[in-house]
Parts: sequence; structure tokens; C-alpha cells
Amino acid sequence: MQKLDDGVVRVIQLSDCHLGADDRFTLAGINTSQSFRRVLARLENQLPACDLVAVTGDVAADGERAAYELFERAMPEGTPFAWLPGNHDNFSLMQGVMRQPFRRLVALNGWVLIFLVSAVPGRVGGQLADGELAELAQLLENCRDRHVALFVHHPPAEINCHWLDQQRIANHRALAELLAGFDQVRALFSGHVHQGNATRWAGIPVYSAPSTCFQFAPGSDEFDLCEQPPGYRWIHLRADGAIDTGVEFVGGDAQQVDRHCIGY
Ligand SMILES: [Fe+2]
Repeated sequence: MQKLDDGVVRVIQLSDCHLGADDRFTLAGINTSQSFRRVLARLENQLPACDLVAVTGDVAADGERAAYELFERAMPEGTPFAWLPGNHDNFSLMQGVMRQPFRRLVALNGWVLIFLVSAVPGRVGGQLADGELAELAQLLENCRDRHVALFVHHPPAEINCHWLDQQRIANHRALAELLAGFDQVRALFSGHVHQGNATRWAGIPVYSAPSTCFQFAPGSDEFDLCEQPPGYRWIHLRADGAIDTGVEFVGGDAQQVDRHCIGY
């Protein structure tokens, strides 16, 4: 499928790959390299028509250089992508290993996609640094006439999983107050929660993406995995500011998640 000249910005969101140092690494019974490659294989025909792959963090399971190199080898050459770090990543190491540095902003056909850093070294939960919020405010001020989509690792909203809700962006109220001063932000897309949730928060739709390895059980109070296969979110950003989005799962693999796993 080649690029279509219909004014729609096509984004594929890949999240929470949790890659290890080599192709044999497994987490919760899942070979994360294998599951990531399966998702990419499913996308093979779509990637040429895709304007951007948005990689929303936890590329690595443990922030290792070899995991980022593995990501780079797996990602098809010529695929435009932008990334942001998750709590399992090593942001400064990524800057040196990924084929391109962290990009704060990607402008595409009337849309501005803004990438935020919510990962704090040594912490599982999310937080937006003061400088991060200040930069976001400045960027939004500079593009009041564009449609904006925000991308960040941790969700700002609750998703009805008690244990994950405690890890949402701690200063989500500050973010909501900031966004109240602007009317061009159309949606926010997060990772971290390993499930394709959709909700409303601060007056905008907030979506999360499934992981490219294992999924957490929706509606769970405590850590729990479910047997959904690896997946991704597709996002169509229309010229009038409307958004079509959904999640897809890539089944048919013999890999079985280890539901007795008690952490990751
Ligand atoms: Fe995470």
C-alpha cells in the first residue's frame, strides 16, 4: 500500500516492546523480540503508506544498549518513526543508539504531534517535569492554528486498573490546567498500560495502546496478565481535526503468556 494523497495523516503506534539484549529474551513467557517482529510483519503492507510510527516507550525491558540495537535492526529501513522513553528505558543511552535523536515535535499536513517525557529515572510512575510542561505550553502557543496530538508514555487518566492508575502521570492536574488554555489539542495517546483503552480526560479523548508483547488484564485491581496477543494502535488524523483510531491484535502465535508471572 503506497502513500495516499487524501490529506489523512496515518500513524501506527507501537508501544512497550520490552526488548531484551538478544533474540532469546523472554518476559512473562513471551519472547518479546519474536512478538515485536510478528507485529512488524503484520504491518508490512501498511508501513509504506504510514506517515509516522510513534513508539511510546519501554522499547527495552531493562534499558540495555543491545535492546535498542535490536529494535533498530527489526524496524524496516525507511520507516519514519519518532520515539519517547518509558520507565524501563534509559533515555540518555537511547539518544546515542537510536538512529535518530528524540524529536519533540513532528509536523505533518496541518497536524503537530508533540512527544512528552513522563519517565523519571528510578521511578515506575509518571511525572512531567516543570521544564516539560513549560516547553509544551510554548509549543502550543506557537501552533494555535494547527491540530495537535500528544504522545506520552504514562497515561494522565485512570483506566480502571487500580494498580496501573497509581502509576499515571502524578501531576496530571497541572497538565489538565495547562491544556485548558488551548483548544487545538485533539487527543492524547499513551503507552505503559499494555491495553487498548479509550476514555475522556480534561476535555479530550485519551487512548492507550496494547503492547507488542503481553497485555495486562483490563479492569484488574492488582497486577494481572491476560491472554490477548501482541498488538498495536492505528491512528488516522483527518484534515478537519477528527480522529479515527483503533487497536489490532496479532494472533495465531504459539507463544503463551505465563499468567503466573507476578511482575515485569
Ligand atoms: Fe511503562
